[in-house]
Amino acid sequence: MSQDDLKRLAAKAALEYFEGGVIGVGTGSTVNHFIDFLAGVKGKIEGAVSSSEASTKLLKSHNIPVLDLNATAELDLYVDGADESNHQLHLVKGGGGALTREKIIAGASKTFVCIADGSKLVDTLGSFPLPVEVIPMARSHVARQLVKLDGTPIWRENFVTDNGNLILDVHNLQIEDPIKLEQQINNITGVVTNGLFALRPADVLLLGTEEGVKTVK
Ligand code: 5RP
Repeated sequence: MSQDDLKRLAAKAALEYFEGGVIGVGTGSTVNHFIDFLAGVKGKIEGAVSSSEASTKLLKSHNIPVLDLNATAELDLYVDGADESNHQLHLVKGGGGALTREKIIAGASKTFVCIADGSKLVDTLGSFPLPVEVIPMARSHVARQLVKLDGTPIWRENFVTDNGNLILDVHNLQIEDPIKLEQQINNITGVVTNGLFALRPADVLLLGTEEGVKTVK
């Protein structure tokens, strides 16, 4: 099976967690499969809270109503992908640059189901460069602070987030304490948020593998 087949497998398995009502929807190629599956159970959906303009567009193309998070109660379920997960379900996210809205919706949801192909499960986070969303005028200042944390920040050029900000991708990190590093980076003035989802990890990880879907809790 291709990596995309494995993503589709995990996405399909996440449907079982959806009992109806309003759902939070992440961003990325794995989530795109999930949105396509959601279209097949449209009768159960009151609406979706979307984490990006890209997901909004796909949801709307399936005539799934997109709701403002401010107009909903706490969500029962959020489904999103990841760039890396460790065994505690601490994640690195933001490869698609949607990390801030993703983190907001994850925080506003009772259950966060993460969907990914099996290659995303790692022992130690950090091989995938950690995305950090920054206010444009703070880019160089934040980059200097990230170097002090032993990272190598690279500006994701020609990319602007849905919030009008920039992304620094931090290479060469061995993230032994994800909760501590998430807090340290978020404390740098000018950082909107970073792609570590450790303070609010996933609750369930569904991994598409050659042997079927593996569930990690
Ligand atoms: C976007 C994300 C995605 O969930 C992450 O990049 C995984 O993407 P894909 O499903 O395409 O592998 O965090 O900001």
